[in-house]
Amino acid sequence: MTQIPEFKNYIAGEWVRSSSGATFENRNPADRNEVIGMFQKSTAKDAEEAIAAAREAYSSWRLLPAPRRAEILFRVGEILIKRKEEFAQQMTREMGKVINETRGDVQEAIDMSFFTAGEGRRLYGHTTPAELPNKFAMSVRMPLGVCSLITPWNFPMAIPSWKLIPALVCGNTVVIKPASDTPLSCYNLVKACEEAGIPPGVVNFVTGSGSELGTSLMTHPDVKLVSFTGSTAIGTTVSTACAPGFKHCNLEMGGKNVILVMEDAHLDLAVEGAIWGGFGTSGQRCTAASRVVVHKKVYKEFVDKFAARTRSLRIGNGLDPHVEMGPVVSASQLRTVESYVEIGKKEGAKLVTGGRRLESGEYARGYFHEPTIFGDVSHKMRVAQEEIFGPVVSVIPADHFEHAIEIGNDVPYGLSAAIYTQDVNRAFMAMRDMYTGIFYVNASTIGAEVHLPFGGTKQTGNGHREAGIQALDIFSEWKAIYVDYSGKLQKAQIDHD
Ligand code: UN1
Repeated sequence: MTQIPEFKNYIAGEWVRSSSGATFENRNPADRNEVIGMFQKSTAKDAEEAIAAAREAYSSWRLLPAPRRAEILFRVGEILIKRKEEFAQQMTREMGKVINETRGDVQEAIDMSFFTAGEGRRLYGHTTPAELPNKFAMSVRMPLGVCSLITPWNFPMAIPSWKLIPALVCGNTVVIKPASDTPLSCYNLVKACEEAGIPPGVVNFVTGSGSELGTSLMTHPDVKLVSFTGSTAIGTTVSTACAPGFKHCNLEMGGKNVILVMEDAHLDLAVEGAIWGGFGTSGQRCTAASRVVVHKKVYKEFVDKFAARTRSLRIGNGLDPHVEMGPVVSASQLRTVESYVEIGKKEGAKLVTGGRRLESGEYARGYFHEPTIFGDVSHKMRVAQEEIFGPVVSVIPADHFEHAIEIGNDVPYGLSAAIYTQDVNRAFMAMRDMYTGIFYVNASTIGAEVHLPFGGTKQTGNGHREAGIQALDIFSEWKAIYVDYSGKLQKAQIDHD
């Protein structure tokens, strides 16, 4: 029997066991028999030690010039490049998504490292004239202090990097807690930080359950910001926990994203977009295209083509390069998918294809589910309103363009949307009228690039945008600075002739 590796927490530059002395298993969702590793079942005490270490390290990290902080972050990117394949393979084993997508996930962390490390030589503020003579005015970005980063399992390295790298370049120190389904990829990122020379205490890593660690990470007086990506339900808890202390709180939550397919769309392209957006990552992206609203003139043709292509998808272990869709991440996620399939049937949606768990042969030891399409969906049905986070797509007919926009917007979330059309006027109207943070023309709802702002409206977030230079607004605070070199008392708004 091969030895199962044990992974430790990283606190104050040391790899340490949890004070609980207990660990939990990380298993492969494509093959439950495979244990990837044992991770620390951390306690509130561990979280508090990590916060104390981050606070201690903050006093010197904030004073290290930002270009020097950035040099270390560039090295993180270089280490990730060298180990991309190994990290991608490990990610597929712990999370299930196909190897091309896990390579993409590591690549996103690489891109984030290089793009954001570049900010070390910018972090631009403004200089601006003062209203009084011999007076200078400017605004500068200041770090916040200790940031708690709570990250999800669907982008196990990319999303930690979206938070970690901007936090660090701005001069903050962090405690990161990854999702318990995918701690290894975050561990790999933290290891890369250590190898790159991030000083002890600047990055701290604790694994374990949110119910055990959450209170310290969200309410400890030394924590200045909580950055969370996950469900809207947990996001509400985070937001509520942060409120009494007026802690900064950055939330990236659910989505019920839509592709609008107009009657003039290049249909084959739209089908490819619906496949990629609906079933990529087994539908487990906040940006997943879980709704497709199709103009009634092309509805039947679209559904036929979409269903045929869906039936041809190869499902299996994501390490096989021919496989197009892997398992879902866990037994509970599988149960959620199955329950929504039942809900859709009960609501009267038409099951076009899929709808079943795959259990025999090569699927027996994993959490596999058929890619599933519901047709003739009415947009108020639960399957068309609620985030499923699995390979289930609802196709909804629309009478005309304005109707499609109306349906598109009529959900509680506002992350990503797309339109397939050849009509430039409609494309621009949709860009303006879809109330989402991300919009695509003739491309699917997934695949945001790291140098553009990422986030959404309504219940998707609380107004922040990650990635891009916009991430700096989460991880820094503005300070306005006035320098009066007149040598006398000057009174703004009063010393007017
Ligand atoms: C997510 O699903 O939480 O835009 C993030 C995309 C990816 C990131 C998704 N770059 O689909």
